[in-house]
Amino acid sequence: MRAWRVYAALVLLLTRCLQTLAYAPLSDDTLKHRIPWPETNDFDIHNGPILAPILVPRVPGTPGSLEVLNHFIKFFGNELPDWTISLQNSTSKTPTHGDKNVPFHNFIATRHPPWVSTGNAGYLTLVAHYDSKYTPEGFIGATDSAAPCAMIMSAVRSIDAALTNKWAAMESQGFDLDLDDEQSRGIQVLLLDGEEAFQSWTATDSIYGARSLAEEWDNTMYPAMSTHKTMLNSIELFVLLDLLGSGENLPIPSWMQNTHWSYQHMAEMEQRLRKLGLFKSDAKQTWLTEKEKKNDGVFQQNIMQDDHIPFVARGVPTLHLIPSHFPREWHRIGDNAEYLDIPTVEDWSLLTAAFAAEYLELEGYFDPRPQALRAARDEL
Ligand SMILES: *[C@@H]1O[C@H](CO)[C@@H](O)[C@H](O)[C@H]1NC(C)=O
Ligand SMILES: [Zn+2]
Repeated sequence: MRAWRVYAALVLLLTRCLQTLAYAPLSDDTLKHRIPWPETNDFDIHNGPILAPILVPRVPGTPGSLEVLNHFIKFFGNELPDWTISLQNSTSKTPTHGDKNVPFHNFIATRHPPWVSTGNAGYLTLVAHYDSKYTPEGFIGATDSAAPCAMIMSAVRSIDAALTNKWAAMESQGFDLDLDDEQSRGIQVLLLDGEEAFQSWTATDSIYGARSLAEEWDNTMYPAMSTHKTMLNSIELFVLLDLLGSGENLPIPSWMQNTHWSYQHMAEMEQRLRKLGLFKSDAKQTWLTEKEKKNDGVFQQNIMQDDHIPFVARGVPTLHLIPSHFPREWHRIGDNAEYLDIPTVEDWSLLTAAFAAEYLELEGYFDPRPQALRAARDEL
């Protein structure tokens, strides 16, 4: 048994070295007729089921924060019952709360193939922060980052049925149980708390939730002989969405050289969706402007401070989707519901879903879209 396990580990190591990175393109047919659109009402700012409940002040430790957290729990519980939900809690002093400990709650939702045991799954991890800034009073942070949270929620719902279909097909076909990465890959959503500084951004007054989570996962060991050593190691790609959803079409550079390949895939998908007429926002401008940048080009990877920092510091590959110039209303009271451009929010959701579907190699597993839903955009 022991020798067999050592041998199996060696084989696994070898396959991991030989294999290429995850990604299989979706067909035009899947993009046009199959992958579910965000539902029309999802992002209604007044009563839409996904976005509207997030458009409230949600400063850590306040009732608004807990209401939004409950909204995430209910959404996944009702719409995505195959996902595993958990919270990671911490507390910290802040420059504005004196001796009081402020509580932070990170929301975590995970789904991996049913045959994969804990410690052997690797994740595409979609991330946004849900807390809002302490000041100015009444600040909503619609682009920062209510809308990105909603984009991720809608995107994972769009690919959930295809994941079910794929994993059912793989199970029924039977496969070699020396699992390779492709057979062990899952998806994870992190909606993080305490990204914003209470007073002004410093290493200790910012990203409270992300710092706590990265440290805890770095120290949480999986059983010996697992594919991944720690919970942190099971993140294959950390995709962080921030300051998205205004109609300003601000360019998003490729920040990180080691994930430039994934940026290029997403940029390619953006261009395809535009060319196929599947975007609702009317802008002709490209968001991901650096698709043609070469691997030896300039990457300004240490400039942007955000939730990825403690993960990057521990070696987690990160795709950071944030514009280099911030939206006009950034950190102002004007970053409110009306500031959002809803077609842009929908398009980001679709782009995120399509990117995740390619990463998880879901081509061939999407059912045709119901006729009623097809009409609207199929005219395009
Ligand atoms: C985290 O905090 C929430 C909200 O207070 C609580 O319901 C939950 O039980 C806590 N979870 C853990 C793992 O401590
Ligand atoms: Zn902010």
